[in-house]
Amino acid sequence: MTSQTEIAVSVTEAVQNALDYYEKKEEELIPILSKVNRELGFLPQEALEQISEKLKVPKSKVKSVASFYHMLSTKPLGRHVIKFCENAPCHVAGGGEIWSALKDATHLQAGETSPDGKWSLVTTSCLGLCAVGPVMVIDGDVYGNLTVDKVPEILGRYE
Ligand code: FES
Repeated sequence: MTSQTEIAVSVTEAVQNALDYYEKKEEELIPILSKVNRELGFLPQEALEQISEKLKVPKSKVKSVASFYHMLSTKPLGRHVIKFCENAPCHVAGGGEIWSALKDATHLQAGETSPDGKWSLVTTSCLGLCAVGPVMVIDGDVYGNLTVDKVPEILGRYE
């Protein structure tokens, strides 16, 4: 069995799971996309097509919603996903410098994945941790009170 076949099966299963969980109507498009994104790590083209067909929502609309939201990705992500809060309280606490340090350290811009598949760098809206801003989350690990000096040390934990 090729990996492509395995992926095709899991895409169909992930879409079906989401459609079983939510009502099959356009108003549920975002939660359905979010659930499939969580299960597969991103939203493959095939998933978008299946969702479009089952919800009877035009493909162009499904694709534009999938591309619009930060928490959704239409491209495979790296093994480690850095989510950096870009909202004002974190920015005021020095987020701009941290963001530059992250871009320098990973050689990535927002939304990019490194060629070796190690890192994805994405921005996110408020994580509810403004009191310890600037904040980032890597693979579910939360890092607050970030300073430029801490960035290489933290990234080094994921070598
Ligand atoms: S603004 Fe960054 S965690 Fe709230």
